[in-house]
Amino acid sequence: MTPNLHIVEHPLILHKLTLMRDKETSTSKFRALLEEIAMLMGYEVTRDLPTEMVEIETPLARTRAPMVAGKKVVVVSVLRAGTGMLDGILKVLPAARVGHIGLYRDPKTLQPIEYYFKVPAQMDTRQVILVDPMLATGNSIVAAVTRIKQTGAKHIKFVCLLAAPEGIRTLSAAHPDVAIYTPAVDERLDDHGYIVPGLGDAGDRLFGTK
Ligand code: URA
Repeated sequence: MTPNLHIVEHPLILHKLTLMRDKETSTSKFRALLEEIAMLMGYEVTRDLPTEMVEIETPLARTRAPMVAGKKVVVVSVLRAGTGMLDGILKVLPAARVGHIGLYRDPKTLQPIEYYFKVPAQMDTRQVILVDPMLATGNSIVAAVTRIKQTGAKHIKFVCLLAAPEGIRTLSAAHPDVAIYTPAVDERLDDHGYIVPGLGDAGDRLFGTK
């Protein structure tokens, strides 16, 4: 088994994921469910954030209490479907910084090509949470992590909604230091790289483009 794989089998997340898989689920419902699951996954993925004790004054007394320490977390969304997870994660991390990475697959070489990249400064001191709903072949996530590491980032976690065994293998072979958080691992990929049984094309279902 992959040591860095965290399967988040919370009943609320699994229930919402089943609704998302259903082909009859509308675009607006799909969007709302993705945001809700991302928020719940955000809670899980931030479980080990470091804290520090700070001095505060309650209405009754001075005391010391814990707060999250260190530079602000950065949530990096893989365009375009990662956008659907941003608002949910930002509900639990409202002060987080946000980065975006855009990749497309070259039709000849089938390799991911970067067309957009914007992240905050001082990435070397930040915890990075990379979000993309579907970990299918894993090729674009490997490329996204490689690009993020070029900024000096050392602490990267990847959060998705659904993973295929092939994608988990590819990502953990290329970046064994990156923890993967997913609610479910499906059976396989089909000949077009879609996760089976999956939920179809996450971007199309999220934006109603099909
Ligand atoms: N991307 C998707 O949106 N769906 C899949 O099943 C695989 C990749």
